[in-house]
Amino acid sequence: MSAVNIAVLASGTGSNFRRLVEAERQGQLGDGKVVLLVSDRPDAPVMELAASMGISFFAKNPKMLGGKEAWEQQVREELATASIDLVVLAGFMRLIGPVLLNAYRGKMINLHPSFLPEFKGKDAIGQALLAGVPETGVSVHYVSEALDGGEVIDQVRVRMIPGEDRDTLEARIHAVEHELLPKVVKNLCDKLIKEK
Ligand code: GAR
Repeated sequence: MSAVNIAVLASGTGSNFRRLVEAERQGQLGDGKVVLLVSDRPDAPVMELAASMGISFFAKNPKMLGGKEAWEQQVREELATASIDLVVLAGFMRLIGPVLLNAYRGKMINLHPSFLPEFKGKDAIGQALLAGVPETGVSVHYVSEALDGGEVIDQVRVRMIPGEDRDTLEARIHAVEHELLPKVVKNLCDKLIKEK
């Protein structure tokens, strides 16, 4: 039986990328194996993390390649070369276009720090704080053409604590993400391995 090869797309700190790699190494991803990190920001901290964890990476800015379509085309080739079965967006801050979406529809998921469909788009945590809602959340959904609009796979509510600052809320949201994302990825890997 072969593995379910996973690529993570990330633009930032990479705590969820790290968590996925750790989950795999602790045997928590079933047949899932994180084999590639893709970033649109060569200077992102997640790149150093990938190097230190021994994960192959592809990191180029779309501008370096002549635009989004060319970037997606090259990423698509990298994903094909690595025989990627599942693509996980974990802190990837660009809308996916048709070149990648058509290749991985139903096999590309995104982590978002809100209880979708609430607070789509940038700075979902800030949006929730500004709105003064009693609770926000974390969602994992399939990627579609619509911004944070694909079918939700799983989501968890996070209650706001009156008076808490942004950093504290963000840390609590990350802790929930670090539980939810590996769980969803494992379930998808269990499904995908049967199709291989
Ligand atoms: C996570 O909170 C993730 O939900 C969010 O970026 C953060 C990345 O953290 N994603 C989005 O806002 C996507 N719209 P990390 O780099 O520490 O994993």
